[in-house]
Amino acid sequence: TVLVVDFGAQYAQLIARRVREARVYSEIVPSTMPVAEMLAKNPAAIILSGGPSSVYAEGAPSLDRALFEAGVPVFGMCYGFQLMATTLGGTVDDNGAREYGRTGLTVSKAGSTLFEGTPAEQSVWMSHGDACSAAPEGFAVTASTDVVPVAAFENDEKKLYGVQYHPEVLHSTHGQQVLEHFLYRGAGIEPNWTTGSVIDEQVEAIRAQVGDKRAICGLSGGVDSAVAAALVQKAIGSQLTCVYVDHGLMRKGETEQVEKDFVAATGANLKVVDASERFLNALAGHSDPETKRKIIGREFIRVFEQAQLEILQEDGPEVAFLVQGTLYPDIVESGGGTGTANIKSHHNVGGLPDDIEFELVEPLRQLFKDEVRMVGQELGLPAEIVQRQPFPGPGLGIRIVGDVTKDRLDLLREADAIAREELTAAGLDSEIWQCPVVLLADVRSVGVQGDGRTYGHPIVLRPVSSEDAMTADWTRMPYDVLAKISTRITNEVADVNRVVLDVTSKPPGTIEWE
Ligand code: XMP
Repeated sequence: TVLVVDFGAQYAQLIARRVREARVYSEIVPSTMPVAEMLAKNPAAIILSGGPSSVYAEGAPSLDRALFEAGVPVFGMCYGFQLMATTLGGTVDDNGAREYGRTGLTVSKAGSTLFEGTPAEQSVWMSHGDACSAAPEGFAVTASTDVVPVAAFENDEKKLYGVQYHPEVLHSTHGQQVLEHFLYRGAGIEPNWTTGSVIDEQVEAIRAQVGDKRAICGLSGGVDSAVAAALVQKAIGSQLTCVYVDHGLMRKGETEQVEKDFVAATGANLKVVDASERFLNALAGHSDPETKRKIIGREFIRVFEQAQLEILQEDGPEVAFLVQGTLYPDIVESGGGTGTANIKSHHNVGGLPDDIEFELVEPLRQLFKDEVRMVGQELGLPAEIVQRQPFPGPGLGIRIVGDVTKDRLDLLREADAIAREELTAAGLDSEIWQCPVVLLADVRSVGVQGDGRTYGHPIVLRPVSSEDAMTADWTRMPYDVLAKISTRITNEVADVNRVVLDVTSKPPGTIEWE
């Protein structure tokens, strides 16, 4: 394991991902963890992340010198680099040498451990105020920039390395190579971590955890729950029952995908609850977005719990486990860190007897999204499930601006299916993060079709590009693809006479319209 010590910015997760891309297993630990505890994990190497502080600021995170004296290879980046410099006797000062963004780096020592085989001049991503002006004793300075004399240093004997920039971001053109040089050459680690090894490991762990009891899993149609369920299914077979609530707000073919493709690929016991009537009734007459969301959330829990209760009443061993598709970023963001024990979770909010509590099974808790997709693929799940773009839990219910009715849902489903089909045909699926298709149900405009006047609804296309859905930009997609989608929707979907393109970034617009 490589430990990534998190100094409080978003970089640690990205670094951990890059290490895994280099086929080396990594885990994030907080910088407040005592060094003895870090070393007790027997790390093959330690990486110190960047962070928002100045090393001289009051209360800035620091590190016990023992970390550098344990014989474990260490790589400091940005803040981690500066901390390494000051802790080991180098000099970091605020010389006014601020660098933000893309910066030219000059490699001053060819054949260094970190920079071997990379160009003498390369583009890197900087973000710092303070700068290192003198490396600690015993370190060779291996790169500089116009304003920073010491932008990288290396001590092969002690296996300590550092760079002022952020090798983990894509703007640092040779960043991944430099990181891999540290891992393979500096730390001597064999790259052999794969998602396949995760499957074997998890299957063992799930069997040990569940024993001969039963587990249930809610399927949403999304990637995470499908992969989690498939993994648990592989481990415990018929001891698992999956529950899929069809709220009638799914897109075309989605319920069938779960009913047929998921079951065909996994052989899982699946309980499909058709609750579309119930959801439609509950939503009738409501057009306020927040009200709609609340109604959908509430009904969902009720239906799900009812299904759980039915399974609990079936004959068989105790149903003691609930499978969830929690991912590593969720764990890190909720402060869980690594290796936390199983959380006990009460899911007895209504309907379930008070004394029932489930233990959680979270087989994806070590994984990032792209790794989950790889695991899903390896488990034989179809690409339609594994490569799915994000789709909101409330489904098409929040893509109809206005009241939700069966007719409107059917209309939107048709329009959405056409847009998806054409985007896939044009090979745009990987370029577009997601493309909500929205029906403006309360808006009508005049059109002309077949010599006659029409008075129909507009459909909005909302293709966005994003890395994490926190921010997004509208996708500049080819006009001919837009034209094709527009022509098909207006020709094939009754009551739609106009297709418009949403050209708003996020912020200020959100991705969904409601
Ligand atoms: P917004 O509209 O807030 O969406 O920019 C950001 C991302 O989250 C998805 N989204 C949801 N996902 N339940 C979900 O599981 C929800 O209620 C929900 N609302 C929005 C949205 O599709 C986008 O990917």
